[in-house]
Amino acid sequence: MPNLKTSYLGLELKNPLVVSSSPLTDNVTSVKQLEEAGAAAIVMRSIFEEQIEADVAEMAASLAGDTSMAAIEYMRADLLGQLGPEKYVEKLRAMRMAVKIPIIASINCVKAANWITYAKKLERAGADAIELNLYHMPVDPEEDAASVEARRLQVVKTIRNEVKVPITVKLSKHYTSLLSFARMLDAAGVCGMVLFNRFLQTQIDTETESIFYAHDYSSPHVLHSQLRWTAVIRDWVRCSVAISGGIHSGEDLARALLVGADVGYVCSVLYVREDFGVIQEILDNLSAWMADKGYASLSEFRGKLRESNLRDGNGFERMQYVKAATKLS
Ligand SMILES: Cc1cc2nc3c(=O)[nH]c(=O)nc-3n(C[C@H](O)[C@H](O)[C@H](O)COP(=O)(O)O)c2cc1C
Repeated sequence: MPNLKTSYLGLELKNPLVVSSSPLTDNVTSVKQLEEAGAAAIVMRSIFEEQIEADVAEMAASLAGDTSMAAIEYMRADLLGQLGPEKYVEKLRAMRMAVKIPIIASINCVKAANWITYAKKLERAGADAIELNLYHMPVDPEEDAASVEARRLQVVKTIRNEVKVPITVKLSKHYTSLLSFARMLDAAGVCGMVLFNRFLQTQIDTETESIFYAHDYSSPHVLHSQLRWTAVIRDWVRCSVAISGGIHSGEDLARALLVGADVGYVCSVLYVREDFGVIQEILDNLSAWMADKGYASLSEFRGKLRESNLRDGNGFERMQYVKAATKLS
């Protein structure tokens, strides 16, 4: 039986499957079920910056009149399910007592000052790590790309300096120069980065001619850009790398590890399959693939397909469509 143990953010994990932030990681009952189903760690549902500034009722009123706050789409989708910061800390405490697997708290932050006290509370309540979800739409026409990155970096640095637990950063893929930004975050002392956050998409109802926020689950097709970027970034950062987005099978998890990820996050597959048994299925399929290939541990193949191992002109940097378009082999 291959050994699936891995390390992520300095935490020892029994396997490389982490359940990412969503309503499934928002209550003690389902977190216990996820642990029993075989998850190695969970990331709690994010708490959003807006929650620290207003209680839920005030927030509902403010959302009704403000369409510019694009970063709160997740909240719009299920406002009643969202709770204030103190409740979040209490929930974390309860989860900490109920399960043994590492719990990563998740905060969606724009301005660091709001989060320092709070991040310390999460640390004291037993968070094994904190994930900074930098989910924010840059809708200020006066702010250029460098300023957006500098602002994000400052948030990360400030929180990094205030807490002792590992910090991981969940990134959007929409940065102008992702590799350079990833290196800046690594140099700032983050212990990990998650590629990528997936924004809840706005949809348009043509009947009522209005917008709505639908839960939009991924398919394995979206995994490609995570694989490509992990393969490229892996050689340039010291920190852990997690892939989030499009992992639906053991084969997908093997792909994530082959390009150099330390763990794979899963979310949509749990909704699509409506059965936490899929966690063990993914792990069993990964083990079977490893046994077939003769791998006894993850380190024997992790990063085998990272960019620096593919310097023959056929790597992830190359725009493969050039080949397809010119019919070159
Ligand atoms: C219903 C739902 C709610 C989510 N809520 C959060 C959240 O609060 N914070 C966060 O960082 N990501 C959130 N996500 C994103 C997931 O954690 C994950 O990164 C994304 O769905 C891509 O992974 P997947 O392809 O396995 O679904 C949510 C996703 C879904 C489907």
